[in-house]
Parts: sequence; C-alpha cells; structure tokens
Amino acid sequence: MPGIIVVGSQWGDEGKGKVVDVFSAQSDYVIRYQGGANAGHTLVVDGKKTILHLIPSGILHTDTTCVIAAGVVLDVETLCKEISALKAAGLMQEAKQLLISDSATVLLPYHRQLDMAREKAAGHEKIGTTGRGIGPAYEERAARKALLFGDLFQKDQLKAKLESALKEKNFLLEKFYNEAPVKVDDLMKLIEDVSEQLAPYRCKDTSLVIHKALRSGKKVLFEGAQGSLLDLLHGTYPYVTSSSTVAGSALIGSGIGASLPLKVVGITKAYTTRVGSGPFPTECDDDTGERLRQTGAEFGATTGRSRRCGWLDLVALKYAVRLNGITNLALMKLDVLSGFDKLQVCTAYELDGERITEYPVSPGDLARCKPVYESVPGWKEDLTRARSLKDLPRPAQDYIQLISSNVAIPIDVVSVGPGRDQTLWIKPLFT
Ligand code: IMP
Repeated sequence: MPGIIVVGSQWGDEGKGKVVDVFSAQSDYVIRYQGGANAGHTLVVDGKKTILHLIPSGILHTDTTCVIAAGVVLDVETLCKEISALKAAGLMQEAKQLLISDSATVLLPYHRQLDMAREKAAGHEKIGTTGRGIGPAYEERAARKALLFGDLFQKDQLKAKLESALKEKNFLLEKFYNEAPVKVDDLMKLIEDVSEQLAPYRCKDTSLVIHKALRSGKKVLFEGAQGSLLDLLHGTYPYVTSSSTVAGSALIGSGIGASLPLKVVGITKAYTTRVGSGPFPTECDDDTGERLRQTGAEFGATTGRSRRCGWLDLVALKYAVRLNGITNLALMKLDVLSGFDKLQVCTAYELDGERITEYPVSPGDLARCKPVYESVPGWKEDLTRARSLKDLPRPAQDYIQLISSNVAIPIDVVSVGPGRDQTLWIKPLFT
C-alpha cells in the first residue's frame, strides 16, 4: 500500500503529529492537504519539543520530502517563522525537504484580524476559533478573490489583485467591525519579505509530484489536520473548522485521483478532548475532567487554551470510522488513564428517552444526547515504559480490545507517551 492517510477521528489534538513523525521514518513523502496554522502538531524527539503549525510533521526526517499542497491556507508569516526556528535548531537542513504548492491559498494578517473581530462581535455565540484567520481565508478562496502562493511571485499583477481582495475586507473591518483598515502598501512590504524567504520552496504543481511518487511506488503519507468531528460538512456544525477534515479531503486537497488503494489510519486518544464551543456528550465537567487535563497536559499547542476533557466516545468513533473509511486505528495517550479504579466508555446515547447507537448528525440532537456508559476496570501501573503489548497490564489490554471489537477496526499502534520510543507497534505501517 503506497499511500496512507492519517486522520483525526475526534475533535483534533489526537496526536497525529507524533504518529506522522514516527511513520515518516518509513515514508518518502509527507503531505499536508487542508487546514492551516490552526493546527498544532507537537513532536518530542530526544526529550526536545517541537510544535509545527504548517510544515508537515515529517520535516524532522531529512530524507523525507514534505509537501504543502493546494488545499492548505498558507499563513506566510507563520510559515517563515516556523522555517527560521527549525533552521536555527538545526532541524531543517535543505530547501528540497519542503515543497509548497503554487495553488495554496495565501493567508495574510487581515484574515486573522477578521477572524478575531468576528468572534468578538459574536459574544457568547462565538465558535471559539483559534483566531488564525482560517475561516476568512477559505471564504476568500471560495469567493475567488484569494491570492495563491504562485501570485506572490507575479509582481506586476500582485498589487491589483490585493486591492481587489481588500475592497470588501476593508469595508467589513471599518464599517462593520469598527477596526482599522488594512493598507495595501504594508501588505506589499510583508509579501516582498516573505516571498524572498519562501521562494526556494516553491513548486508549480505538487499534484504532479505526488502523482508521480505514488505511481512509482514511493511511500506517501497524507497528514490530516484537526479531526473528523470538526469537518465543515459532517462535523458538529457550526462549531467546526472551515475545511473538510475527513480522509476524502486528502484526495481533493492534494489533487490526486480517487481510484488509488489507500490505507486510512484513524488517530484516537484513549479519552476525548475538545477545544472551543459545541456539543460534547462525554465531557466531564468535574474532577475526572480536570485529572485528564492535568495528566494529559491538555492545553492547546496553538492557542494555549485549556481543552475540555471527557471519556472515550465509541459512538463518535464509529461515526468517524464510517466517514473516513478508517481501515486501522492508532490509540494515543493510553498512559494518561493509569490510576483510575474504573474507566467509563460511552457505547450508546440516550436521545429523548430512546437509546441510539448511531451518531446524530443534527447538532441540536447531539446536544440533547446523554452518554450511556460501560464501566470497565482500570489499572494502577505506569505504562510509559511499556515497549510491547505484552508489557501492558491485563485491564489495559482489555481496554484496547474493547475499543477494537466495538468499532470492528484493528488497532495497529498504541502510544504510551510523547517520545518516539513510547510507541507500541502491533502491525507494521506500509503493508
Ligand atoms: P478555526 O479552525 O480556527 O476556524 O476554529 C474552528 C474550531 O475548530 C474551533 O472550535 C477550534 O478550537 C477548532 N480547531 C481548529 N483547529 C484545531 C486543532 O488543530 N485542534 C483542535 N481544535 C481545532
């Protein structure tokens, strides 16, 4: 199987960065295909933490080519900072390690400004976005007013394109949100700086690069951002992100056909977290939630916000399996559950007095769902030193088995800590 799509099966922050980093050692290419700097992928190598927002998590492997494909909204300022930080830390050596699609959508400071102004104006009805300008940038692309990465290098037309995009934006900022308007000349200066820094990574057609790689049997990993329940069409709308986060988006965002055989690895934490507003049936607004938050260090890698925490929700996981066509699962942060006498696992919901086992797609219905829990024995042992499945205590092995049999998908990888070596491989990746 030359291509593997890695997707989050919850509300993001499942640990995709670690999985992609570990898988990258076996990959020739790693592709980011949607989202933008709203993502925060944390990698820990030799005890050193690196947080990536835009650059694919394969960048720490010098032999892997990382691609930012057309479906990404590219915050050019953030990207420059990220590249500089990686270079300064000696973690990115050569320009050929990164290719940026000429067709990616450029995200500029005014997108962030609009995002934050809109959230402020929404008051208690806010989405709880990351404030990274993701919604406004995707809106501009859909309105066919966006600057594409390749446009940054067409100096003769750049100013006119910017002016055209800014007409509406400045009207909104000034008249609707009472904010300072954006000056074209300031943006031109910014673009001049960033385009010089980013020029070495420019690639006219990343779709062709990926196509050729797959055709020639190279190992290609597609790195999803956010999680399935934040999908624009199939998530808990309107409390979602502005891109499609499910596996199908890997094909669209990178521009490859739908007929290739691909493995889809769904990443799930051993419990559930969510950042921002919106329904969350298994949320524990009590000591359990606080304990998961503290033990699991559940604070946003992008915004530092504390994450809402709760028990594992198998109804939601089954929905994610179906939406993405997940073929294999990776179970993350199992070590965080050590020390609980009992663990609760949600296997059904009660909706208006009726027991249901399919995830309700209407957010109104979901908000009224009460979780139905199965209680299972916990374990006391520290799992962080386990290196194979048989090192785990029986109740932890049973917990893995319960998840796998409930959603009828094999669990190939179990993670018991942030380090690369804290990964239990049950099955090799590219098989
Ligand atoms: P946006 O993507 O910044 O527009 O935010 C929309 C929703 O998606 C908010 O609830 C965010 O908290 C959530 N979100 C966006 N990116 C991530 C992520 O990488 N992890 C977790 N939640 C995210």
